[in-house]
Amino acid sequence: MKIGLERREALAAGLDAVVSGVFLRGEKDNELPPTLSKEDAATGKQLTAAWKRKEVRGKRGEITIFHRPDGVGRLVLVGLGPRATYNHEIARRAAAEGLRAVRNRGTRAVGYRLAPFVTELVTTEAASRALIDGGGLGSYEFLRYRAATETGGGVEEITVHLGDEFSREEAALRRAVDQQVTIVETVLWTREIANLPADTATPERLAEEARRLAKEVGLKVTVFDETKLAEMNCGGILGVGNGSTHPPRMIVVEYAGGARGGRTVAVVGKGITFDSGGISIKPGLAMSYMKFDKSGACAVLGILRAAALLKVPPRVVGILACAENLPSATAYRPGDVIRTYNGKTIEVINTDAEGRVVLSDALAYAVEKFHPDEVIDLATLTGAEVIALGDDTAALVTPDDRLAQGLLDASAATGEPLWRLPLTDYHRELVKSEIADVRNSTEISVAGVLQGAAFLEAFVGKTPWAHLDIAGPAYTTLTTRKYQPAYQGAGATAFGVRVITRYLLGAAR
Ligand code: BES
Ligand code: MN
Ligand code: ZN
Repeated sequence: MKIGLERREALAAGLDAVVSGVFLRGEKDNELPPTLSKEDAATGKQLTAAWKRKEVRGKRGEITIFHRPDGVGRLVLVGLGPRATYNHEIARRAAAEGLRAVRNRGTRAVGYRLAPFVTELVTTEAASRALIDGGGLGSYEFLRYRAATETGGGVEEITVHLGDEFSREEAALRRAVDQQVTIVETVLWTREIANLPADTATPERLAEEARRLAKEVGLKVTVFDETKLAEMNCGGILGVGNGSTHPPRMIVVEYAGGARGGRTVAVVGKGITFDSGGISIKPGLAMSYMKFDKSGACAVLGILRAAALLKVPPRVVGILACAENLPSATAYRPGDVIRTYNGKTIEVINTDAEGRVVLSDALAYAVEKFHPDEVIDLATLTGAEVIALGDDTAALVTPDDRLAQGLLDASAATGEPLWRLPLTDYHRELVKSEIADVRNSTEISVAGVLQGAAFLEAFVGKTPWAHLDIAGPAYTTLTTRKYQPAYQGAGATAFGVRVITRYLLGAAR
């Protein structure tokens, strides 16, 4: 797919569909807003007629499609809601909704007219980025296993058009848009891996993807197989992986950094290629979604891809803790005590609390080996996260206020929502064990997200650290998809790539 910025007027570019936006009309708005006069002309004044009929109201998400009398494609008008509450996230969603209203219907090239999406509060740069996001992410479908005859060609070209209004800003906008296109392409690349089923996306396959990526964009990659993991005393990753015939892997991907002597950020991801729960087996309902339990690790790969392509200032080390959690005669079991990389022991209460067990080795290795200034982990860690925050928001847990603020700022700029939860000694007490250093669960569940976080904290020591529990937003399901932004699509969302990349770039927009 080709995504980019164009100077030309959208309505004169011969596109299959032009998407434009309209704000909520007031009681007395009997005249079409002057910002839509180009749209009106292109539709042979059909728009004015529709406005007079009150067919176009500008309610958020309202779609009106006009067939142009000049025979050039269609005009798709998307409602943006009240002007006063409009923001870049509304533009992002509108961009996806407009595109999805016409895709797979002979629509190859879709363009956005920038002007109607720009206001006093949403700048040309913010609006351009949002349209690139919404169009690019919203166009995605996981097509690998579908017949081409069923799905048509899909959208191949997405462009944001400056037109007369902003053509002079082209040079200034080009840098921001190019950066955003790289981020969007990276999210799509990440989704394509995260959507792979567990028979294909084994820990070794994730290692292959990491090696291929490293070669393509210039990263250093090291893969620790089961023999090496045993030498390193990574009992957590080995324990969880023991029930599967697909052996576990720890994958380390390094980006050297834009500035010499700059800071180092370690990004650690949970890579459970399938989570059946193990001996503490899960109920069958919706277990197929547990192929997405590798989403944190996939996001880490995406973050490293973006870091390399965008040459972010800090040095970034990505660590993927990959294993498959299955029940078998060789599986780890409740009651087992595991010794991890840094010597700490874990009492296994529940084999379904496996994410924290694989992350224990990866986090301890990250701090010991790389002495990072900060560690950020991403994990589909708990069902409790989905219950607490729903499936659009990730939980952010960190004792470090500065790190929290940096991540929340990046979140506000990208539209990947984070909500901070408080970690206290109460939670630290909960994960203490009578026979080991920590236990991986309590018998009854309380403060699930924070128990998980308290456990992980025990393996990072004093290094500033933030934990993102992405169990909710990592993927969309049949039941909840209609409440999610349209740009999240079906299946893996690659949540975390946009917010952490923005954080690493170090600039809220
Ligand atoms: N991978 C799951 C968490 C999960 C649940 C992610 C639903 C996405 C949707 C995790 O490994 C898990 O099973 N957690 C347990 C922890 C418990 C046993 C302490 C949970 O949340 O029930
Ligand atoms: Mn589990
Ligand atoms: Zn899991």
